[in-house]
Amino acid sequence: MRVSSLLVAAAAASAHAYTTNSQIRLAYHGDSGMMVSWNTFNHVENPSVHWGLSKDRLNNIATSNVSITYPTSTTYNNHVLINDLRPDTTYFYKPSPLMKSNSTDIFNFTTSRRAGDNTPFSVAVVVDLGTMGSKGLTTSAGAPVASTNILQPGERNTIDSLESSLADFDFLWHAGDIAYADYWLKEEIQQFLPNTTIQGGAAVYESILNEFYDEMMAITASKPYMVGPGNHEANCDNAGTKDKAHNITYDSSICMPGQTNFTGFKNHFRMPSDVSGGTGNFWYSFDHGMVHFIQLDTETDLGHGFIGPDETGGSEGFFNVDPVNATMNAQTTWLEADLAAVDRSKTPWVIVAGHRALYLSNTDDTCSTCKDVFEPLLIKYKVDLVLSGHSHIYERLAPLAEGKEDPNGLENPTFPWYITNGAAGHYDGLDVLESPRQPYSRFGLDTTNATYGWSRLTFHNCTHLTHDFVASNNNTVLDSATLFKARPWCASSSSNHGEHCNHGEDC
Ligand SMILES: [Fe+2]
Repeated sequence: MRVSSLLVAAAAASAHAYTTNSQIRLAYHGDSGMMVSWNTFNHVENPSVHWGLSKDRLNNIATSNVSITYPTSTTYNNHVLINDLRPDTTYFYKPSPLMKSNSTDIFNFTTSRRAGDNTPFSVAVVVDLGTMGSKGLTTSAGAPVASTNILQPGERNTIDSLESSLADFDFLWHAGDIAYADYWLKEEIQQFLPNTTIQGGAAVYESILNEFYDEMMAITASKPYMVGPGNHEANCDNAGTKDKAHNITYDSSICMPGQTNFTGFKNHFRMPSDVSGGTGNFWYSFDHGMVHFIQLDTETDLGHGFIGPDETGGSEGFFNVDPVNATMNAQTTWLEADLAAVDRSKTPWVIVAGHRALYLSNTDDTCSTCKDVFEPLLIKYKVDLVLSGHSHIYERLAPLAEGKEDPNGLENPTFPWYITNGAAGHYDGLDVLESPRQPYSRFGLDTTNATYGWSRLTFHNCTHLTHDFVASNNNTVLDSATLFKARPWCASSSSNHGEHCNHGEDC
């Protein structure tokens, strides 16, 4: 029964022409590697990827012995690393075995740009993106959900928008809250999903995960999908789900072992922490062209005596969630070493993403302990931009340090720039942006705009970076701002050195 429901889910997400759907996903891995991951119904002794430079000649094979599952999962997660690839080169590949053994689909990916390559490129960024369709965000919802928080008939969702924009970005960065499988009980209580027992809830939880990853394959089979942890990956109970009709509040005690402690998230992905000194899928870094990207973990392992929001005893009220690294202050020790090692002559841009915001008008959604531990390092090492979500709004702020605006604004600031975009969309949609907004707020979207969207970062050259909010419904840009950083040391290698870009202008 579980198998058939997964196949139904695959068919429902068949906007793309693939004949099979095995949740295929890619991740950059060091200078010359690509991690290929996919799911199968059975354990695979030696998962393999056939690959080559031509679609007709997949004459290389990479294999592994990593085919893993966990209690209540309906599938196995297979992970195979392809190494010794050329930079910025398109390869064709086919994982084996796939869910549908007679699939004729051949996939392709393009490898990472070499650090120091100044060619302009764009990246897509989402936070708080859930399952679309019958198990998530669609044109209907349970009675408590506002009509402005569901899709209108014919409205294009964020996954479809990203799929329609594949030519416009090199990879997709998803900084936490992935799929919203822990909404299963909320969706049942609100009578959006059929009622089931608490014991049967694990199957619903897993079906939401499977549906999301199937839907995402239209993007993630060809674009690296770099992810980080959010609170909705941690446990099955959505930090406490209330059944008002029966006056019951469910907590983490209802969660089966497979739905606690980030289990699905740990099994599903293989982020490049092993080659960047990070920890699992929780914190790591990678270079791509003129940019050094850093994923932080705002959910656990803050160190310095703080309990992470998702850890047992943390602000989310979870239990059965552990720190992921036993070394004291492991994350900030790593972050400082990673930042100190950046060669700004090769990667002048340093971009950080963490699930929770350090600054936001919705102050209840910020993470003050995250600010305590991370901000001094972000300031010290002159990080250019900090991205976050968690609050289901879009808000662009000024460059900030210790709550003060950089006097230069976006014209060569010293302080990090902050943007929160948690408006990608999930079952019950957007939040309200608190009013009045903080004085350092520059632009905001929320329920009143009823617009889902994603972020596009465009690195024009060594000195200019544009952030766009792209509305998912029609791919129009609702907000655009360009950051200028004077970097005399790379002016000679920059195609537009010394020139100044206005907002939204191609540089
Ligand atoms: Fe969140």
